[in-house]
Amino acid sequence: MREISLHILDIAANSISAGATTIKIEIEEDKESDTLLVRITDNGKGMSPEMITMVTDPFVTSRTERKVGLGIPLLKAAAEACNGCLSINSEAGNGTTVEVRFQLNHIDRMPLGDLVDTFLSLEVGTPEVHWIFRVRKDSNEFYFDDQGLKKELGDLPLSNPEVIRYLRSIFSSGINALELN
Ligand SMILES: Nc1ncnc2c1ncn2[C@@H]1O[C@H](COP(=O)(O)OP(=O)(O)OP(=O)(O)O)[C@@H](O)[C@H]1O
Ligand SMILES: [Mg+2]
Repeated sequence: MREISLHILDIAANSISAGATTIKIEIEEDKESDTLLVRITDNGKGMSPEMITMVTDPFVTSRTERKVGLGIPLLKAAAEACNGCLSINSEAGNGTTVEVRFQLNHIDRMPLGDLVDTFLSLEVGTPEVHWIFRVRKDSNEFYFDDQGLKKELGDLPLSNPEVIRYLRSIFSSGINALELN
């Protein structure tokens, strides 16, 4: 994968598969520390410590009876190639936080990609999830929690074209104003 947004879609898909009803996606660009941080927090079924080891290092584990994918290991490798790291905090029954750091100005750091489309497709594609998106660059921030909007909409579905247009406009004005790298 060549864009961080695509990895975000993949990690969020894991949260959805884990039965999460609330998923928070945070992105922080910090010039001072030269860091780009992506954090995805869910309230899904969580993972045991053994599971965390197995999903982050699928090649060093001796257990082979269970198929695990490569979504997390690929993201971890991409982060480590940019002086970064990936960490998972999770507890069975209590949700999961996946945190990835990259050196912001590392020559091999993937571009963020299209965050507006990414957030829009998650929001509209999985309306049953309570989504929270937070994007910060230095001291400026875009924050969106879909609960207020969902309440306003009542029976009107998120897939309504007017609603999609509205969401796109608030996502793009909020995120473009940050002028992310
Ligand atoms: N947020 C999460 N909550 C609970 N379990 C998770 C979570 N994220 C990952 N897992 C577990 O870790 C496994 C590995 O995830 P990973 O994204 O690396 O691969 P995958 O989703 O199985 O396959 P793919 O390569 O299609 O992404 C998942 O199959 C799931 O069992
Ligand atoms: Mg996956």
